[in-house]
Amino acid sequence: MYLLTSFFALFLAALASFTSGASVQKRLTSSLQQITSGFTNPTNVGFYVYKPTTVTTNPALIVALHECTVTGPGYFSGSPYAQLADQYGFIVIYPSSPHSGTCWDVSSKATLTHNGGGDSNSIANMVTYAISTWNVDSTRVFVTGSSSGAMMTNVMAATYPEMFAAGTVYSGVAAGCFVSSTGGVDAWNSSCAEGQVDESAQQWANTVFAMYPGYTGSYPKMQEYHGTADTTLFPPNLNEEVKEWCGVFGYSATAPTTVQDNTPLPGYTKSVYGPNLQGILAQGVGHTVPIQGDQDMEWFGITGGGASVPAGPTSTVPTSTSTASAPGQTLYGQCGGIGWAGPTSCASGSCKASNSYYSQCLP
Ligand SMILES: *[C@@H]1O[C@H](CO)[C@@H](O)[C@H](O)[C@H]1NC(C)=O
Repeated sequence: MYLLTSFFALFLAALASFTSGASVQKRLTSSLQQITSGFTNPTNVGFYVYKPTTVTTNPALIVALHECTVTGPGYFSGSPYAQLADQYGFIVIYPSSPHSGTCWDVSSKATLTHNGGGDSNSIANMVTYAISTWNVDSTRVFVTGSSSGAMMTNVMAATYPEMFAAGTVYSGVAAGCFVSSTGGVDAWNSSCAEGQVDESAQQWANTVFAMYPGYTGSYPKMQEYHGTADTTLFPPNLNEEVKEWCGVFGYSATAPTTVQDNTPLPGYTKSVYGPNLQGILAQGVGHTVPIQGDQDMEWFGITGGGASVPAGPTSTVPTSTSTASAPGQTLYGQCGGIGWAGPTSCASGSCKASNSYYSQCLP
């Protein structure tokens, strides 16, 4: 019962975020391609890539991981990374989950193990393919995702730490928190989802280290977002993620070095635990925290440390004309931004711009 209601909640959350994603009209310099051979794919994960017409000489690579019910192509349409790739000349991989319901497997021993033959292994093989085929700069490979993709982002950072320089997590859980005690693939874990799993930083670090036994190298720097109004993956999950990476990096999870209110958005609080870890709690935001593309560019070092929002390709995106009769967006839903073709009025609350890619109905 819990399992069904939880899946349903996740489904609704995904639907709310992406109802109009597939219909977003974008004028990009290139198009999404599917790669079907040339790499080992133990769980048959879909491999989609967006390569702008013009990329830098040794381009950076972002692996962008979708939430449940959304495919790789859906995340391509519903996230800002393709436009940003056009703007900055990097490449984006959009893996597509092979599982029914299209959540990622973040529960099996195989996926929670370096080269274990699970989804994480298939995705890592795509990165290796990209590095050798498209001359990607192997020191600038990044991973990000929303919801199930956010869980998978933590799993990728834990199982393939040598591969990624940084990760950004939008409303996920700690790597290993969704583990299935019976070895289930792509299993739901209600105690983790509902915020009942409470482990120490050292326990979490041991969980991470066990995913790649013998590894002694560095781990990617991590940025973890979570909303206080998340009733799908309850808010305590942010603290578990923070403890996990604090354990890995040797930071104190109870004494952040700085806490910045209203950063990067009004109502968001950014806690910095050290150079490699930031936790960002979004007041009143549900599942999932909207992607902050400009912040990602900064965190990944694709843009400089400036506070300014990069100017989006506004002039190349046609203005939507199909929203006149659309119903108002629900509270916390998207109501505007570059490339957005969905409702621009709010049935509840008012539409406030977060950045050039995202406006949201807020109370
Ligand atoms: C859920 O995950 C926790 C660890 O986060 C684990 O102890 C528990 O056994 C898991 N539950 C199930 C039903 O697998």
